[in-house]
Amino acid sequence: MNETIHWTEHDQNVQAIWGGDSRHPAPSHIQTTSQISAEQALHLMRQNTALLWRGDYHQGKQLLAAIKKRVHSKARTHTDFHKHRLQQAQHSRLFQQLLVEIQPNGLLKNSRAPNVAAALSDVFGSPNQHTLLLPLHLLLGYIGAHEWHKTGVAIPALNGQKIHVPYGVFSPVRGEYLELVAQTKLPAPCHTAWDIGTGSGVLAAILAQRGIPHITATDNSTRAIACAQANIQRLGLTEQIHIQHTSLFPSGSADLIICNPPWLPAKPSSDIETALYDPGHQMLQTFLTHAKNHLTPHGQVWLIMSDIAEHLGLRPAKALEQWINTAGLKLIHKTDIQPQHPKARQHHHALASARNREITSLWQLAAK
Ligand SMILES: C[S@@+](CC[C@H](N)C(=O)[O-])C[C@H]1O[C@@H](n2cnc3c(N)ncnc32)[C@H](O)[C@@H]1O
Repeated sequence: MNETIHWTEHDQNVQAIWGGDSRHPAPSHIQTTSQISAEQALHLMRQNTALLWRGDYHQGKQLLAAIKKRVHSKARTHTDFHKHRLQQAQHSRLFQQLLVEIQPNGLLKNSRAPNVAAALSDVFGSPNQHTLLLPLHLLLGYIGAHEWHKTGVAIPALNGQKIHVPYGVFSPVRGEYLELVAQTKLPAPCHTAWDIGTGSGVLAAILAQRGIPHITATDNSTRAIACAQANIQRLGLTEQIHIQHTSLFPSGSADLIICNPPWLPAKPSSDIETALYDPGHQMLQTFLTHAKNHLTPHGQVWLIMSDIAEHLGLRPAKALEQWINTAGLKLIHKTDIQPQHPKARQHHHALASARNREITSLWQLAAK
């Protein structure tokens, strides 16, 4: 977040730091406006003219909503996953062309705008020191995520205690797999457990609550590590859980190694998608290949996976079984659960039919 962008306003040269998603290039041509129809705005944005909104904040939100409505109403419903993703990425690039300026400490110049310092701190670690240009679409995402972060997600498997998740960290809001982890019989003995790709720390917390005394939770994302640390501290579990910023495994071995990897083998198209997409199932395959070397003699691997990639034609049926077998592991037991998806949201979703057939499983594996 440090590319400087320049534009001209009232015959003056102005500049700010680009605060958009690092995977999207900063706009090269910027025009300011405080009144424009959605149709005109879309016309300019499609020609790669980014619009810097100078009008009322709420009118800016309405303009963005009207732009999205237009774009979505004309969008095609793709049954092919890759075409659907491509369309999503194009839309996301387009929506990034409506900008707002944020002055140091989260102040917007637009009338009726909220102070967004706390929401920006959540994302960047501190309030902005410099003037930022940020897509309004992204800012609204930051504000929504900040509210969720404050509210937290109540986890039944933690007796209703809350897990707080900031922007960019995987949220256990769709938490059917948490029940599987809370109820599956632990290997015996079970003194040590590892939670690989801990995200919010939720699985490590469930294992700690089940009485496992020594747990190490790893993640390779800085945001996830900070989030897991905060949750584990809040839940008073720092004696039992050690958080480690590393890729995959810590050194040594464990009685239980749990992993809920990203389920979809595709390239992330924005910074926050890295917890959902694992290109080519690379993390999953590396995890399986090396897990056996880290198990104690009676140890188990618990792998949490949905079969959605199979329903989307992104992974051949039986491929997972083959990888498990090749890794020198065998299946002890598999417990399935059907995810609950909010019906209303499914309605327009191109992935709805895959979602309807999706099953999430906990695979209990041991060394062959
Ligand atoms: C689907 S999320 C699961 C988060 C959490 N365990 C849960 O169940 O809610 C996958 C997590 O794996 C992490 N991850 C991806 N690749 C990793 C790697 N090579 N090493 C450690 N963590 C990784 C991501 O940052 C993300 O937090």
